[in-house]
Amino acid sequence: DRSPPKPRVQLYVEQKEVQGQEEVLEGSSVSLRCSAETLCSSPPPTLTWSSTPRIPLSDSSRLQELISDLNFTATHREHGVTFTCTITYQLQDKIKTAQDSITVHVQYSPKNTAVSVLPSSSVLEGSSVTLICSSDANPAVNYTWSRESEGQLKQLQTGQNLTFNRTDPTHRGWYHCTAQNQHGSQNSSVMLDIQYSPKNISVLAIPSSSVLEGSSVTLICSSDANPAVNYTWSRESEGQLKQLQTGDTLTFNRTDPTHRGWYHCTAQNQHGSQNSSVKLDIQCE
Ligand SMILES: *[C@@H]1O[C@H](CO)[C@@H](O)[C@H](O)[C@H]1NC(C)=O
Ligand SMILES: *[C@@H]1O[C@H](CO)[C@@H](O)[C@H](O)[C@H]1NC(C)=O
Ligand SMILES: *[C@@H]1O[C@H](CO)[C@@H](O)[C@H](O)[C@H]1NC(C)=O
Ligand SMILES: *[C@@H]1O[C@H](CO)[C@@H](O)[C@H](O)[C@H]1NC(C)=O
Ligand SMILES: *[C@@H]1O[C@H](CO)[C@@H](O)[C@H](O)[C@H]1NC(C)=O
Repeated sequence: DRSPPKPRVQLYVEQKEVQGQEEVLEGSSVSLRCSAETLCSSPPPTLTWSSTPRIPLSDSSRLQELISDLNFTATHREHGVTFTCTITYQLQDKIKTAQDSITVHVQYSPKNTAVSVLPSSSVLEGSSVTLICSSDANPAVNYTWSRESEGQLKQLQTGQNLTFNRTDPTHRGWYHCTAQNQHGSQNSSVMLDIQYSPKNISVLAIPSSSVLEGSSVTLICSSDANPAVNYTWSRESEGQLKQLQTGDTLTFNRTDPTHRGWYHCTAQNQHGSQNSSVKLDIQCE
């Protein structure tokens, strides 16, 4: 009896044969050649290719009987893919198969670089936040963090994660992560938003908190907060607070003595509120 033929798969990079575990650089031309000894059988044996994980095999061509070349340009998609060549032949009225495989290892520059933020890219002042960079590359990348500040990029630190244990409003801004290996680099950015309750509220009276009867006066309330606040005006009257109106200004076009008294502005967002007051004095002519 004849011993059944076994196929053999060889890896060529840029026309040169290389050993199976050697890594192939992305962009190089790869040829997988499957060959088997010819067999005087009828019908003649056939060679077929398959891959795990499955990728579409398009460039297969049979040059002559029992040689099949699979030619492609190496990309990250072929990294770690096992290519199997199967010979199928008929022996004594039985269909027989035999196989050989090769796993291709590709070196490639960073792909799919992305930044995710835990717990979220908008956090409350004082809480902690971690920016996590990820990238697909071979060999593994190193990560560098930088921040945009006054139109300039300032390098912060290296490492996959950038953590703020206690955020404050100055941490708000754009952060960039650059993933790099010897084949290239790629970056991704994220905007970090720090939210906080109103601070530094103040009330300004224009032209002054003491005006002549009949003249006009405008009270302007301002504060620092994120997100923006809603302002509410109220007035103390007989020991009770009476709500007047909303909006950052309160205007009296023609003041009269009944307008005398304390006016309060409340600045409020979903994280809290703050108050400030002004005493309005109306002078008689
Ligand atoms: C595939 O590559 C081999 C070796 O580089 C070459 O001899 C062959 O002609 C190529 N086949 C096709 C279809 O390009
Ligand atoms: C980055 O943070 C994530 C989530 O907290 C964690 O799972 C991962 O181990 C960290 N990576 C490094 C290199 O510290
Ligand atoms: C942040 O907290 C972690 C864990 O509590 C600690 O190991 C690290 O030193 C802290 N980092 C800073 C900058 O305070
Ligand atoms: C990151 O990797 C690149 C390429 O391997 C190297 O040139 C660079 O010095 C590394 N940077 C750091 C901070 O390790
Ligand atoms: C990110 O990559 C783009 C495109 O390669 C480049 O123009 C830009 O300067 C990079 N940004 C940083 C922060 O490295």
